[in-house]
Order: sequence, then structure tokens, then C-alpha cells
Amino acid sequence: MDYSEKLKNLPTQFFANLVGKVNKAIEDGRDVINLGQGNPDQPTPKHIVQALQKAVEDPNTHKYSPFRGLLELKEAVCDFYKKEYDVDVDPVREVAILFGAKAGLVELPMCLLNPGDLMLLPDPGYPDYLSGVVLAGVEYELFPLKAENHFLPDYNAISSDVLDAAKLLYLNYPNNPTGAVANLDFFNQTVKLAKKHEITVMHDFAYGAIGFDGKKPVSFLQADGAKDIGVEMYTLSKTYNMAGWRVGFAVGNPTIIEAINLIQDHLYVSLFPAVQKAAIAALSGDQTCVKELVARYESRRNAFVDACKQIGWDVTAPKGSFFAWLPVPDGFTSQSFADYLLDAADVAVAPGNGFGKYGEGFIRVGLLMDESRLVEAVQRIGNLGVFKNK
Ligand SMILES: Cc1ncc(COP(=O)(O)O)c(C=O)c1O
Repeated sequence: MDYSEKLKNLPTQFFANLVGKVNKAIEDGRDVINLGQGNPDQPTPKHIVQALQKAVEDPNTHKYSPFRGLLELKEAVCDFYKKEYDVDVDPVREVAILFGAKAGLVELPMCLLNPGDLMLLPDPGYPDYLSGVVLAGVEYELFPLKAENHFLPDYNAISSDVLDAAKLLYLNYPNNPTGAVANLDFFNQTVKLAKKHEITVMHDFAYGAIGFDGKKPVSFLQADGAKDIGVEMYTLSKTYNMAGWRVGFAVGNPTIIEAINLIQDHLYVSLFPAVQKAAIAALSGDQTCVKELVARYESRRNAFVDACKQIGWDVTAPKGSFFAWLPVPDGFTSQSFADYLLDAADVAVAPGNGFGKYGEGFIRVGLLMDESRLVEAVQRIGNLGVFKNK
């Protein structure tokens, strides 16, 4: 028996190698501080867990969900977007319920493109964007996110031929892996560009809740005319520490939403209704838990960045997400520095080249541990002496 060409062409999981090495080190009894992953470390807030417990006792949740999810959840999504971003969304035509944002962003090229069509993707970027490319049999061009441009794309640097050929553009702010954020001006420019070149835009708002220094990240749908050309994918994974629950949604252009719903009619029968009920509790309940979570990440970021500065590591503090994107010292590549930190300091980080060519020269750290552990990791790195001459 053989696998289909499609499966054989799926990108190899770059980070599987890292996970293997880290697990081996832990099995060997080493005290590894693992900053390489992106799994939220805090529990789901209690009121959301309790909503699930209550819902699961109701036999109505044991039946098939409506194919396209509970209307009540879609209404909660609309109220959430109105309250958080002052954006009006229609619950029936402009919301699709997803098994996490990942499902939506992998499905979308299959929904909108034909084999050979062109997509534009950020480099560095979330590796799973490439899974959707392969499953849909489409082509892609990468555009660089560079430090000198605050990790935003420079649209002027993309040739007009490529822009004319492109049918779909993916963006993600607050950004994984760079921690950069976008402003409304940038999203307005994006909408103009997309309209001029007839490109559909998918904004991945997975870290939408996590902005620092008192600045709330803006939604793409706040841009003028965004709904004419695009959608935003939102997930409860990060905002409410619900990564394992697999619940998210797409909001925006009704034609795109219909396409997502249509493909999902054929793939699933929506999510477990009790999970949908818990998602309603998350979106419509008290948002203090979100404020506390963001304050926690900000305080970790501050402790981590201060510790880096103390050892002479010239780092830029991330403005959002729960990642820090750090330059490697002279004489190292992303991979050699990540290997060195694991071997010599028992600190695991993600090498930046795993996120694309323009990730070379960086490592990504997840701020997903207590401050004391984050600071200890930096101290261990400091003891290696690699930043002495900086
Ligand atoms: C940029 C980005 N988009 C999407 C996702 C997927 O989130 P979900 O858990 O909703 O599938 C992640 C998860 O790490 C992410 O980092």
C-alpha cells in the first residue's frame, strides 16, 4: 500500500526533531527548561470548565450538532466582535465555527483556490500554512518579514506580477514567531492592495487578545472594507487557555464563510455541542481572566527581557503574542545556537529557520513558564559567556 502524492508531499514537521531531542534530554534526567513550544501553560478558567461540565450533563449535547454549529455560539461571536472591536458581524452569514483556527487556515486554500493558483505567505511564518498549500495543490510565494520593517510586509517589495497573480494572502498579527503587532493603518493599506490586485486576505488573529503596554491589538475587520475581501480567524486556544478544546471561528466576508461552511459540511458535523456551550461561556462571560492572562504574559516578558539585557543580549521586547524573537550571537546559526543551548545549558528554544528562510539568525522563546524559570534560563545562557563581547 502506498500513500497519495498529496500525503507524501506534506511538509515534514520541522520541530519534530527538536521535540525528540528535548524528550531524550529529559529522559536522561536533565533539568531541561523547555521554551521551544507554543502550548499555553495555564489552565482554562474555572467558569468555562464548569460550563462544559454542566453542558455535558444535558443529553441534548450528546446528539449531533447542527452541521454549521450552534446559532447561539455564532451570536456570542458577534457580540464578542461588537464589544471587543466595534465590528458588526452577521451570525448566520458571516461566522463559521472551526475546530481551532488551524482547521480553518488549512481548509481555506482548498475552498477558494484551484491547483496551480498562487498564495502569498509570510516568512517567517506559522509552519501549518504550508499544509494548506500542499493539500490544495497550489503554488506559493513567500514575502519577508524583516526587523527593519517591524516584521510587517513591505508590499512595495513584492513585484506587481506576483501581486496580480496572487489569489490569497495570509497575515498574522500579533505575530508568531516575531511577537510583532500591526496597526489599523497597515490593515487599511492591506485592504487597498487586496482590492487593487483582487487578492483575498486571511488574517490569523490567534494572538488577538495578547497585546502589551496597554495597546490592544486591532482586528483586521476594523479596516475599511475588510469584509469585502477577507476573513479573520480567531481561536479560543490562547485567549482562554483552551488549546486542547479545539474551538475557534472565522468571521468576515459571507462568500468566504459560505465556502468554509460548505467544505466543513462534507468533513465534519461541527464540534461537540458541550464544547460549543463552553465557548459561549468564554466569549460572553466576564473577561477579567483575559486581562489577568495578558498581565501575566507582560510581566513574564518584562522579567525575561530585563534578564536578557543584563547578560548583554541585545533583544527587542515583543509587543504582543507570547513569544520573544531573539537574535543569535555572532558565529552561530539559528540551529547551531539552539543545539548549543540545549547541550550546554539545558535550555530548549525553537530555531528561527524552522519558520522560514528569513527566520535564520533568530530563535523563538515561548514565555510559557513562571518568571523564575524564564530568568533561570537566561542566567544559564549568560553563564555560557557568548554575549561577553557584545
Ligand atoms: C499563528 C497561529 N495560528 C494558528 C494557530 C492554531 O491555533 P488553534 O489552536 O486554534 O488551531 C496557532 C497555534 O499555535 C498559531 O500560532
